[in-house]
Amino acid sequence: MNILFVCLGNICRSPLAEVVFADLVEREGLSDVITADSAGTGGYHAGEPADPRSRACARRHGLEITHRARAFVPEDFVKFDLLVVMDEANASELRRRAPNASARRKIHLLREWDPAGPGEIPDPYYGGESDFESVWHLCERSVPGLLRERKVLR
Ligand code: 4NP
Repeated sequence: MNILFVCLGNICRSPLAEVVFADLVEREGLSDVITADSAGTGGYHAGEPADPRSRACARRHGLEITHRARAFVPEDFVKFDLLVVMDEANASELRRRAPNASARRKIHLLREWDPAGPGEIPDPYYGGESDFESVWHLCERSVPGLLRERKVLR
């Protein structure tokens, strides 16, 4: 099972979601059967490390982001079993790019698995530390449901 987290720039939200999920996967002993990666629908920040505010947020919660930003590519529709997107704008963009129905079915919003959801993970780029913390908490609340469902369906 390969899971790709997707946002716009791949420097703020999706790298955080990726480490929150990967940490849970590791704690559940599933690292050998579930992989996680992240990408952005926009490539403006490709090659860059995650936003310093996302890295600081992860560090406050005991995790490290080493990911370098990359743009979503068409092969991702094949390589990944599930495309977990932060907001509706980026989900729409992926739906627009999806080559077929099978690819389109892989597109989901992360907060479909939030017990308090559904909803979006708001873009914190023009915000401050509390907005990044909010991203963290929404991710933390959503990934257990995602992992639980995917384990069953594996
Ligand atoms: P992300 O946040 O999609 O969560 O990585 C953003 C990063 C960069 C920009 C917008 C959102 N930007 O406009 O450069």
